[in-house]
Amino acid sequence: MKGLITICSFLLVGILTAYYIGFGFQEQPKPRAIDKELEGLNEKYLLRFSHVVAENTPKGLAASMFAQLVREKTDGWVEVQVFPNAMLYEAQDEFDALMRNDIHIIAPALSEVSVLDRKWLVMDLPYVFQNEQMVEAAFNGRIGELLFESIGDYGLHGIAFWDNGFKQFTNNIRPVVEPEDIKGLSVRVMPSEALVDTYRVLDAKPRLFSFNEVYNVLSTGIVDGTENTLSNIYSKGFYRQQKYMTVSNHNYLGYAVLMNSNFFHTLPVDYQNSIIEAMNEVTMWLREHSKVINDEMLYRIENSGQLEIHYQTESEKKIWRQALKPIYDKYGQIIGDELMKEVIKLQGK
Ligand code: LMR
Repeated sequence: MKGLITICSFLLVGILTAYYIGFGFQEQPKPRAIDKELEGLNEKYLLRFSHVVAENTPKGLAASMFAQLVREKTDGWVEVQVFPNAMLYEAQDEFDALMRNDIHIIAPALSEVSVLDRKWLVMDLPYVFQNEQMVEAAFNGRIGELLFESIGDYGLHGIAFWDNGFKQFTNNIRPVVEPEDIKGLSVRVMPSEALVDTYRVLDAKPRLFSFNEVYNVLSTGIVDGTENTLSNIYSKGFYRQQKYMTVSNHNYLGYAVLMNSNFFHTLPVDYQNSIIEAMNEVTMWLREHSKVINDEMLYRIENSGQLEIHYQTESEKKIWRQALKPIYDKYGQIIGDELMKEVIKLQGK
């Protein structure tokens, strides 16, 4: 009898073990994504997306939408956490943080990328793009390809160009209509050599401050003016600290969405594809909506009555372009023939 019980127990254990370790008839377990970067969260990937602007701007909205799409497309296996308003890092510090895998996605302004890779200065040549269509042609054509190829040498993987809008000039001292009007004014700019030199050529005083510091340096009079898109000027309240605005569209402020190349390629291919798919959808959305958002901000600024606004005319633009020709002479060489030929092609179209 004892023998029979022992045999039955063995049979039962055998059957149960076979059931759990599988003879192929049980439900397959869900695939487990192994997160080598983030110990403890070994069931899914957590990607930290850092940026410096407000959530109600083109970039802020796009980043949130991207996070939601990635979650949907990967059934929650890839979670993108967005950190806006420079909560984690200022724009220039984001590059190192990305290479250390402290963060996983960034979308710095193109001018910020030019500090790392001087070819990107091409996007900061004054009046290089006359309208949004030219900007899109640059992003989607050979110029965009060459810039992403070039940034690849720094270990960065470019996944999209995001739109914001053209930059406008604001200040507290006087209306700026002609190049002479800007002489002597101190102006906050992003850390791009071409932007710094643009103001030097005009005999103004360019000053470098991070985006987070702009409101303070404007409100305390440390600088007289600044340049930015209407969405940034409105969402960060810069317009409340300034008296004059020139709608000049003198440079385009766009973004490069970048990941650490090594990190990106360690993700399972399915997740890489989902990220790219989500990114493409958001980029298309932004293309259609960034101008609408900036136009809405212009309307709000106009209605606030806070600023005296001058709309630059075509004949005024010609005078400014002429005054800024030395920037093309100097930076054309630094940017290199290949990109400059593409710029000339684009402008000739
Ligand atoms: C800046 O002025 O630094 C901004 O352009 C920041 C941004 O990312 O739009």
